[in-house]
Amino acid sequence: MVLVRLRDSTNGFAAWFNRVTPKGLYPRSLLIIVTPMVILQSVLAFVFMERHYNVVTRRLSAAVSQDISAVVSLYDLLPRTNDHIALRTFASRNLSLNVAVLPPTDLPPPGPKPFFSVLDAALSREIGLRLKQPFWLDTVGRSMLIEVRVKMDDAVLRIFAPRNAAYASNSHIFLLWMVGTSLVLLAVAILFLRNQIRPIENLADAAEAFGKGRDVENFRPRGAREVRRAAIAFLEMKRRIERQIEQRTTMLAGVSHDMRTILTRFKLELAFLPEGESEALKKDVDELQGMLEAYLAFARGDPGEQAALTDMGELIEDLRLNAERDGATATASFMGPPLVEVKADQLKRCIGNLVNNAVRHARCVAIAGTRDARYLIVTVDDDGPGIPEEKREEVFRPFLRLDDARNQDAGGSGLGLSIARDIARAHGGDIQLSDSPMGGLRATVRIPV
Ligand SMILES: Nc1ncnc2c1ncn2[C@@H]1O[C@H](COP(=O)(O)OP(=O)(O)OP(=O)(O)O)[C@@H](O)[C@H]1O
Ligand SMILES: [Mg+2]
Repeated sequence: MVLVRLRDSTNGFAAWFNRVTPKGLYPRSLLIIVTPMVILQSVLAFVFMERHYNVVTRRLSAAVSQDISAVVSLYDLLPRTNDHIALRTFASRNLSLNVAVLPPTDLPPPGPKPFFSVLDAALSREIGLRLKQPFWLDTVGRSMLIEVRVKMDDAVLRIFAPRNAAYASNSHIFLLWMVGTSLVLLAVAILFLRNQIRPIENLADAAEAFGKGRDVENFRPRGAREVRRAAIAFLEMKRRIERQIEQRTTMLAGVSHDMRTILTRFKLELAFLPEGESEALKKDVDELQGMLEAYLAFARGDPGEQAALTDMGELIEDLRLNAERDGATATASFMGPPLVEVKADQLKRCIGNLVNNAVRHARCVAIAGTRDARYLIVTVDDDGPGIPEEKREEVFRPFLRLDDARNQDAGGSGLGLSIARDIARAHGGDIQLSDSPMGGLRATVRIPV
């Protein structure tokens, strides 16, 4: 029970901690370096101020107040002369104190206490311990000096002591050094971390670009050993995938080509057969040839096109014109910044296949594109018969056609959707089929930008 509650609260803390800490590797590593440093410095500064500074100031104040009490005692012991030359010489030569003997007046009222002064507190306590006479103390008035007035029976002694004799004045220097060196440390950390993290960022960018089917420009393994290993592994993987795609394409092209040769022979031989007997056979061969042509086009249609900035609004408008030319009523719209980095011909083929399907099965077609910070989304709607929900994955299979029974002649090869999905996936995206508000099928292409 307790354990469960403990675990829950730890989980809560972990979630909170995850939420408030920065997400990037760079700020995180900076935080890892800076936080302990700040804590260490704060503790050091506190301990130093609290202990060392106070102790030193108290000792120094004690020394100064001893000197002052010596002067006071000496004043009592020495015979009174007019100028008190002996006392003043002794004090200034041996104690670095500037003493003046003033006529007996009342001491000035105590000045305002400085808000944060260890010196004032320590000094007045130390003097109070050693002197029986009333005294007045000013540690603020003059910057370099401390003024003390002591009321004697027949005079007032005014004593100036150098301020830095009374407290640890150079401790700011210590703090300055501390802050200064930490700033240097921070600068070094920022600089070095930047360099360590850039290769990781480059790797992430390269992997992302490759996932979207874009060119990975001048990327090479750099940085720490582990990062370099990951980069090398990524390049290996990329090369393997590219080789595989190339192999697939050449194999498809080879097979299709060989079969086309045989088919041509087939047709030649059929031509020699008597009319009527070979009608059905001829139709089958024609269909087979159509499929092969489509296949060949598919295999050929995957050359190394480079991704480039493309005006999507224009591309969609082109497709709309094509659809109108094919006899459909078509509308097109695009929202958002139209320039997107894609393989224009491929994407046009992808969306074009969807539009062709819509034109083939319906009268009205609506092509709508939107683009936001993350995705380019193009939907193709129609008012045709649509595709039943359970068939919507199936139709993506190559050579699968639903309309064999519906209308034999209008049917294509059944490759359109597979090609379209292939292209969308090569861009790091996908195609989804759903119900259209227009009554028919809605095909949605979503591609990360
Ligand atoms: N908009 C649509 N409305 C109704 N059915 C559709 C629609 N789009 C596709 N289909 C069905 O999905 C099947 C597969 O489509 P696909 O585009 O892959 O092949 P195809 O259009 O028959 O041939 P191709 O595109 O190669 O000329 C089609 O045969 C058709 O039955
Ligand atoms: Mg099609």
